[in-house]
Amino acid sequence: MIDQFGEPHSRQLLPTPALVCDADLLSGNIERMATIAASANVGLRPHVKSHKSAYVARRQLDAGAAGLAFAKLSEAEAVVARLRAEGYAAPISALLTSPLVGSAVHERAVALSRECDLMLVVDHEDAVDELSTVFEDERESLAVLCDVDVGLARTGVVSPAAAVRVTERISTSKRLHFAGVQGYAGHLQHVHGREQRRRATLESAQRLQNVIELLEHEGHRVSLRTGGGTGTSEIDIEIGLLNELQPGSYVFMDREYRDALGSDPEGRFRQSLTIATTVVSSNQENFVTVDAGLKAMATDAGPPLIVGHEATARYEFFGDEHGLVTTGSRDSFVRGTRLDLVPPHCDPTVDRYDVMWLVRDDAVVGVVDVVARGCSQ
Ligand SMILES: Cc1ncc(COP(=O)(O)O)c(C=O)c1O
Repeated sequence: MIDQFGEPHSRQLLPTPALVCDADLLSGNIERMATIAASANVGLRPHVKSHKSAYVARRQLDAGAAGLAFAKLSEAEAVVARLRAEGYAAPISALLTSPLVGSAVHERAVALSRECDLMLVVDHEDAVDELSTVFEDERESLAVLCDVDVGLARTGVVSPAAAVRVTERISTSKRLHFAGVQGYAGHLQHVHGREQRRRATLESAQRLQNVIELLEHEGHRVSLRTGGGTGTSEIDIEIGLLNELQPGSYVFMDREYRDALGSDPEGRFRQSLTIATTVVSSNQENFVTVDAGLKAMATDAGPPLIVGHEATARYEFFGDEHGLVTTGSRDSFVRGTRLDLVPPHCDPTVDRYDVMWLVRDDAVVGVVDVVARGCSQ
């Protein structure tokens, strides 16, 4: 983290739109998930895709995380390099949760494996062959997980028999070793209603269980069982199949999660992330215009909420650079008023900003580099 100011600085002076994070709420969220995982004796591997920052990753590791999860190779490269540059000397267990394809990418994975304890996922025998070839001359063997489709259908083997084929291929490779399975139920994280989410998660866990049973029957030891996200974190603990959780959004939360989780246990993480905006025009009868539009946040989950005015004001997208805020009366928000928005979807919103400002009440207490911003390769 870079401290730009000698003295705390008012957040009202930040140029908008700005990505702002409440430092205490962030700390509370990090601690809460660490405590939940530790009390259940389950490993925690926070997903870096949500914050893309070495600062938050370091905080998560210091709070006891077993390692970090990354969506993409370049995300891992950027965050591991920054952690090392900032003097983090302890081993870093880094799991890439998406399968890799192609020799150039695999060569980069070899380079990264010399900087951290890398683990990769595969969902096809050909991927195992590609990996075996590039890791052939390495001294250390590489931990590889079989990625299992538990209903999301995005990646992963689709049957227990396919998992056995992939695992056997891993086990016959000289420089690879089979470390376990990944089963990420991304399609269930935002299911509304705890009972519905729990029932659906039980079904998806059964798919993973079937894979594990066949693998063990065939003599493969399934040490690591990783998966889960913020929305199913405590349900996954109750079910007890996963021995490692990889949630990401809990550090920030967002409107989509707020709508889905409400007052469920998983919804008790606090909304730490906001987008600060300014009313730039207030000449119309029933609305004002703010300076945050399509470029200021991800729009896949609908419009943001307006902090402190959730029930009375509404945001509508108003082009690339602007948003429309209905006010009831134009006197409510005069030109220059600062409004904070709850982002609809945190991960892709964070990816739009170079920095995230840390605040405590009105004071800006730091600025965090979103070091893996744009690292989607
Ligand atoms: C493989 C994987 N694991 C974990 C997560 C974290 O999920 P969440 O941000 O809902 O906690 C994601 C998010 O997309 C993911 O893709």
